[in-house]
Amino acid sequence: MTLNAYEPTIERTLASREEIAATVARLADRIAADYAGKPLLLIGVLKGALHVSVDLAREISRRIDGPSEIRMEYICVSSYGNATRSSGEVRLLKDVDRETAGQNVLIIEDIIDNGHTLAYLRDLFQRRNPATLRSCVLFDKPYRRLVNVPVEYVGMTVPDEFVIGYGLDYQELYRNLPYLAQLKASAFSS
Ligand code: PRP
Repeated sequence: MTLNAYEPTIERTLASREEIAATVARLADRIAADYAGKPLLLIGVLKGALHVSVDLAREISRRIDGPSEIRMEYICVSSYGNATRSSGEVRLLKDVDRETAGQNVLIIEDIIDNGHTLAYLRDLFQRRNPATLRSCVLFDKPYRRLVNVPVEYVGMTVPDEFVIGYGLDYQELYRNLPYLAQLKASAFSS
């Protein structure tokens, strides 16, 4: 779908492209400083975190005093499927391709809601003996957290609405929307 075709179904913008870019830049500042001179392994969580992982990696790479090396891996999990509420059961659809033991692992997520997905991922990677393990989440929805999971880098808190865009989908649409938005109630299929 083109961006124009999405427009009639969008209730309001929650974070513009510029606000998202500034947030990613702020996260990159902190991450680059914290991992200065060290190798860093970014693990993006598909599909939602594809956009933020790429933009964040680019931004970190631009910092002169950042990590000595950056590697990127992707893992694919799903807990929502086509539902709008998480089932709480996380399914591993694709694992990372390489060994993560002994590395500085930074999990990158687009959003945290009830926390089940990130808790599952932190547990998975912790059991693989990383040198360090942290998480970075661009959008935080703190209202319905069911699991207490550490997030060292949080981008911005978003309203308690069904959000779409910048990687986040509704029935696999809207991921390519370049900003974060709230979907109109009428756009939900019954
Ligand atoms: C979304 C999002 C996170 C997870 C967060 O993934 O990308 O991974 O939900 O929710 P939680 O904190 O309530 O567990 P989803 O399962 O929708 O898959 P997707 O990334 O492929 O859209």
